[in-house]
Amino acid sequence: QGDPRLKAISDAIRVVPHFPKPGIMFQDITTLLLDHKAFKDTVDIFVDRYRDMDISVVAGVEARGFLFGPSIALAIGAKFVPLRKPKKLPGEVISEKYVLEYGNDCLEMHVGDVNHGERAIIIDDLVATGGTLSAAITLLERVGAEVVECACVIGLPEFKVIAIVCCQNNGRLLDMT
Ligand code: PRP
Repeated sequence: QGDPRLKAISDAIRVVPHFPKPGIMFQDITTLLLDHKAFKDTVDIFVDRYRDMDISVVAGVEARGFLFGPSIALAIGAKFVPLRKPKKLPGEVISEKYVLEYGNDCLEMHVGDVNHGERAIIIDDLVATGGTLSAAITLLERVGAEVVECACVIGLPEFKVIAIVCCQNNGRLLDMT
C-alpha cells in the first residue's frame, strides 16, 4: 500500500475476459513480462522482502511461478526448486494432490531438492482459492522445510497486486501488501 510501483505493475497486467472459458477474467501476466520496469519492480519487491530472511529455497509453482521464482532466487542467494505438474520430473518425486473447482490436480517435487530444516518461500503468479499454494506448502513441509511465506503477483478476488500469503502451521492467513 502506498508503493507507487504497484499501480504500474497492476496496469501492466492484461485482463482478458472470457478466457479460457466464459465468465473467467483471465489475468495475463505475459504483458507484465514485456514491460521491463514493471517486471523488474515486481521481482525487486519480492527480493527486498526476502533478501535478509535467511531463505535457502525458492520454490516456484508450474507454470507461471517459473517466470518469477528463478530471478528472485538468484538475487537472494537461494536455490530454485520447481514444483511441477504430474509426470514431468524424471527423478524420484513426492506428490501432493489438490482439488480444483472442476476436478483434481497434483504437484510434484524431486526428492532431495529440499532438506529438513531449510527455510523456503513459494512463488506463483496468482492466488485464487489458495488450493495450489496449500498443496505446495504441504509438499515442502512433508520434507521438513519451514515455509516462511508464499508470495504471488496477483491476489484474487480483489485483484491485489503483490499478495503475500502467510503460513502458520498449515493454516493460511491472507495478508495483501
Ligand atoms: C493458476 C495459477 C495458480 C493457480 C491459482 O494455475 O497460475 O497456480 O491457478 O489458483 P488457486 O489459488 O485457486 O489454486 P493453473 O492451475 O491455471 O495452471 P497453469 O499455470 O499450469 O496454467
